[in-house]
Amino acid sequence: MILITGGAGYIGAHANKELNLAGYDTLVLDNMSYGHEDFLKWGDYENVDLGDLDSLRDVFREYDIDAVMHFAAFTYVGESVEDPQKYYINNLKNTLNLLQVMNEFKVTKMVFSSTCATYGNPQEIPITETHPQNPISPYGKAKLMVEQVLADYSSAYGLCYVSLRYFNAAGADPEDEIGERHDPETHLIPLILDAAIGKREDIKIFGTDYPTPDGTCIRDYIHVTDLADAHIKSLKYLENDGKSDVFNLGNGNGFSVREVIEEAIKVTGKKIKATETDRRPGDPPILVGSADKAREILKWQPKYDDLSRIISTAWEWHKKDNQN
Ligand code: UFG
Repeated sequence: MILITGGAGYIGAHANKELNLAGYDTLVLDNMSYGHEDFLKWGDYENVDLGDLDSLRDVFREYDIDAVMHFAAFTYVGESVEDPQKYYINNLKNTLNLLQVMNEFKVTKMVFSSTCATYGNPQEIPITETHPQNPISPYGKAKLMVEQVLADYSSAYGLCYVSLRYFNAAGADPEDEIGERHDPETHLIPLILDAAIGKREDIKIFGTDYPTPDGTCIRDYIHVTDLADAHIKSLKYLENDGKSDVFNLGNGNGFSVREVIEEAIKVTGKKIKATETDRRPGDPPILVGSADKAREILKWQPKYDDLSRIISTAWEWHKKDNQN
């Protein structure tokens, strides 16, 4: 059985669905602080907080866990600057708890959700896995610290892990069963789609004076189902005795904020008002990753690799999720 922490959240729920489709038994662990009850459609579920060591031990006693996919984490970069303790406790300390219990129960395989935020401001584009890691937010720092803990536990205790450094997760399950829903929502594509359905008056463009061709930030958007697929490929890699490693997950194509808005106008056929505003602190001008290593070693091949497909799956889900 595969344990999925944070399996009621955006990326964890998509991985849970794909794992079940691939024939795995799953157990979702979520404390529901940001998770969604209606995303619990596959496998078993236990409401457990990773801060609670005894309940964690009960779970490992009750279920026969073969491997862990660890998604549970807070993900608001700005909030992590204002309240770092919240991030170090949940994203770092609670991960240490999970690793401690895995160690006690001799569970040796983990796929970890890391992030391109561990790189900090890029020195070269595209970013490869060997790029220096100088995170600029407590969110990115806590993720990097976990990567380092994993490396030490691997040497000392025989833990086998894959850390996946996601670029910008986007899109939704192509069958519309689950999708992106955050409260508060801060991500570009769902906010644009809110403007498209009239839930918001406009989309604010955070900064138009960046050193990019149209002055707005460039990001590498990667479909959430492709991310889920990379997790399954990573699991199979570990099952086949692959050695612990880190991989970027992105498409290698960058799109500016203006380009994403233009594409959303085409996909939705709606008018979307864009308002230019100041930069958001902490946004690097360009984040584009090279995922050649994941393609080569994990044999990962993104399927939803054009922006129009990514936005159209997000749009179908967004309409359904906002019907009432
Ligand atoms: N943006 C806007 N207007 C908005 C929201 C976003 O212009 O209303 C811009 C941002 O400034 C940025 C781009 O759109 O340039 C994408 O912003 P998101 O908030 O959607 O995504 P981020 O790139 O900030 O964050 C993502 C993940 C984080 C992860 C980070 C790594 O959400 O979890 O990538 O850099 F840490």
